[in-house]
Amino acid sequence: MRTTSEAPVAEPQPVQKGNPASGGSAAGGRDPAGAAVRITGLAHGFGELRVIGHLDLTVQPGEVLGIVGPSGCGKSTLLELIGGLREPGAGAIEVGGEGSPGSRLGRCAYMPQRDLLLPWLAAIDNAALALRNHGASRAEARAQAHPLFERFGLAGFERSSPTELSGGMRQRIAFLRTLLAGKPVVLLDEPFASLDAITRAEMQEWLAGALAAESRTAILVTHDVEEALYLSDRVAVLSGRPARMVDELAAPAPRALPRLEAVTAAGFLAARGRALEALTRGLR
Ligand SMILES: Nc1ncnc2c1ncn2[C@@H]1O[C@H](COP(=O)(O)OP(=O)(O)OP(=O)(O)O)[C@@H](O)[C@H]1O
Ligand SMILES: [Mg+2]
Repeated sequence: MRTTSEAPVAEPQPVQKGNPASGGSAAGGRDPAGAAVRITGLAHGFGELRVIGHLDLTVQPGEVLGIVGPSGCGKSTLLELIGGLREPGAGAIEVGGEGSPGSRLGRCAYMPQRDLLLPWLAAIDNAALALRNHGASRAEARAQAHPLFERFGLAGFERSSPTELSGGMRQRIAFLRTLLAGKPVVLLDEPFASLDAITRAEMQEWLAGALAAESRTAILVTHDVEEALYLSDRVAVLSGRPARMVDELAAPAPRALPRLEAVTAAGFLAARGRALEALTRGLR
């Protein structure tokens, strides 16, 4: 599966997370037939620009896969390819066993790098956008979205305009919108890139809880190694463009821990060091 990896995979770690596929298999290799996402021999470019060199990757149902890599290495492009927004130049991508762009699109909800909330809609209507697009009435869509506002710390802000919300709250609404799309696979592209360090840390803790509560398969792109290791079951480290796999690491800490405790644990610091070393190696 990891034909392009240059380093051995970490030993599986005893992760205790809230989903059935969180066994910490660094190779992500259980039950290959039932993979949520399977990428084989993927290569992609734009004209002369080679963006993804060669990639093999499998994500199990319910697993959270973190992807880190330097800016411009093709992380957003990879998510667009998985989500059926682009067709690969070479290789194959299957989501839920189906390879056509339409079926990938139908199985993935994409949270893009910017929150893209619609300023003319209230927070709850932004969150419930996909339900409306699928024919639900405004009242039905709001009724479905409302419990998520309660559950994820946004109660009381349902009717606020996006312009009245903080950056962290906007990101949370954008994440709820991604969840409410009801797709089995969520693709998260740098969800907290625009936030300051303290808000970002709070949001990471929030997302850890949200991901544990939802049994979705998630692919989380970030350039922040700590964020990836804290939030994911497994982290893939990509090289600079054209992207290839440099290393894969199993999550070092149970996601249930408070963030500060998790990211200062010895195992976490060791994994962070290894991932940073792999990132540096991938730039050479
Ligand atoms: N539609 C496009 N047409 C031409 N080139 C593109 C297109 N989209 C992306 N690229 C190029 O592909 C490369 C990878 O872009 P991509 O946005 O996937 O990188 P990234 O890893 O997400 O970067 P960042 O961490 O900065 O978000 C970049 O060099 C970019 O200029
Ligand atoms: Mg990007």
